[in-house]
Amino acid sequence: MPRIHEDKIDEIRSSINIVNYINQYINLKKAGKNYKGLCPFHTEKTSSFVVSPEKQIFHCFGCGKGGNLFTFMMDYEKLSFMDAVSKAAEYAGIAIPRYEEDKTKNDYFQNLYHINEIACTHYEKTLFKSQHKARLKYFLDRKISESTIKIFRLGYAPDTYESLLNQIKKSGVDLEEAAKLGLISRKEHGAGYIDKFRHRIIFPFFNISGKIVGFGGRKLREEQQPKYLNSPESPIYKKGEILYGLNFAINAIREKEFVFLVEGYFDLLRLYESGYKNVVASSGTALTETQAKLIRRYTKDVYIVYDGDSAGIKAAIRNAYIIEKQGLNASIVAIPGEEDPDSFILSKGEKAFDKLIKERQVPVQFQIDQFFYDYPTPGIEQKQSFSAELLDELVDFDDQIKIGIYIQQLSEKLQINESMLVSQLNRIKRNKSRYSKLSRPNNDNTDTPAEPVIRAGLFNAEMGLIGLLLQSDAQIRNFIIENASNELFENESTLSLYEHVIQEIEDTGIVNIDHLMIEFKEDETRKNLLSEIALTLDDMSLKFARDCVYQLRKRQLDKKAVEIQEMIKNEADSEDSVEHYSKQIIQIRQEIHKLDMDRRKQSRV
Ligand code: UTP
Ligand code: MN
Repeated sequence: MPRIHEDKIDEIRSSINIVNYINQYINLKKAGKNYKGLCPFHTEKTSSFVVSPEKQIFHCFGCGKGGNLFTFMMDYEKLSFMDAVSKAAEYAGIAIPRYEEDKTKNDYFQNLYHINEIACTHYEKTLFKSQHKARLKYFLDRKISESTIKIFRLGYAPDTYESLLNQIKKSGVDLEEAAKLGLISRKEHGAGYIDKFRHRIIFPFFNISGKIVGFGGRKLREEQQPKYLNSPESPIYKKGEILYGLNFAINAIREKEFVFLVEGYFDLLRLYESGYKNVVASSGTALTETQAKLIRRYTKDVYIVYDGDSAGIKAAIRNAYIIEKQGLNASIVAIPGEEDPDSFILSKGEKAFDKLIKERQVPVQFQIDQFFYDYPTPGIEQKQSFSAELLDELVDFDDQIKIGIYIQQLSEKLQINESMLVSQLNRIKRNKSRYSKLSRPNNDNTDTPAEPVIRAGLFNAEMGLIGLLLQSDAQIRNFIIENASNELFENESTLSLYEHVIQEIEDTGIVNIDHLMIEFKEDETRKNLLSEIALTLDDMSLKFARDCVYQLRKRQLDKKAVEIQEMIKNEADSEDSVEHYSKQIIQIRQEIHKLDMDRRKQSRV
């Protein structure tokens, strides 16, 4: 993000009080030294959203989301990082110097859009040339009208090597750039380029503002591979961040107050052609969280219409849960047999499709029916594993009412006691939160301050060390740097957080939470972990640091001991190796003993 100097970003961030800023949107009330309110990122009735004026960060102890001012703006106001910084600068009345770079970058993007536009126009024109009328006929045979072709700007890439290439050269486009966009590629032998899309029907991909970011090309001959050739990701095209057709569907989605989600380009065209214009396509792959959030901007209700085969059903269920976890309502329209939405509407008609829409089901209902279809008289074990699978998804829902409804349905259909399902759900929930909150044992007013304890296992000892480093106590910090190391960490997120914190200390001598937040702005897990640690751990002691290091070291030695015992079991026939391993075990026991002794000695000083 070299467009604005880091110091300027620091200046902007530090001149705004996050409490005041967030208070514009959410009613915050003072609670101790922090402020609390209802979390804007999930539905809740009691306030678990905490904002710290001291640390200038927020964290929701309900849904786990956290960050600083900029990431709040990005997540809540749906801004890019640069837009958040600019808006914050404006709010704070700070002028951002305009760098030349800024303009260059913008021009660079515009140029890429421009190249795609040239390609799109070329493919469009080619489709309507009389020599290619067989291609136009392909669409008409598939009952796609000329007007739909024109709206979606569909095209044809002819069966030659230099059709688009010549056009691009004529337009004075930089060939390197066109190659980056995946329109042409370097010849394998010899100098020069050739067209990438050949003898394919072309679907341009648009972003929300109607600019072309990439293309998909469908094969026309059986032996061509792949069936659909798609543009590679580029500076203007990130596959998981757009939904095919959304730009054309926005008004219809707003009007109908729901959206159809289909898999294929032709499914989308079929629905559009039949007057269901509120439709987007996931283009074959699993939906991403970003795509679900994109939908959420326009509607809360998503009707998933996927192929009737088992792959289609699986994908529909998986995507339904991705959608529901974003607080949206998914329902599944079941296409029967081996049809896809396109072929179903073509063969059975729109009335039959309307009937399927009426019979749509919420994912849990759909799965239960599917289950009884697969196992008409399920045994207890089948029921158990099915309910476990289902509860595993429900555990990530924010909406308690929805969870309740789903559990009720499951209980009725499977004939399992509802309270049993609830306790199973709670069990899964406990197992899933790999770490529970690190909390201080009491806040009573005795004179001796309470020692923080490591509450729930070793992941917390890892979090503890990071929390300690965030305090600016030099003695504690040095203790950790001298006594802890990367190998003590087992959890990937805490390890990487730890490494970043240590790096920050090495680089600047202090830990700047804002810098870390900016670094993790695209990384939910680490960003949320950081805000959680920063807001949970406070004023900690050297003893806590020792405890954390002790626990992690002990874990490492215990693990080694177990491994060696395994080896002894495996190689029991060889006396030599048994003796060798036994010696190692003794050595590890001694190390553990020494660790315990050191700890006792230290706790006396
Ligand atoms: P399908 O194979 O179901 O294609 O793939 P389709 O859309 O029904 O196309 P027709 O009706 O056979 O012409 C579904 C979607 O998966 C993606 C495309 O987005 C396609 O529309 N896909 C499929 C690819 O991206 N690449 C492939 O090789 C195949
Ligand atoms: Mn199809």
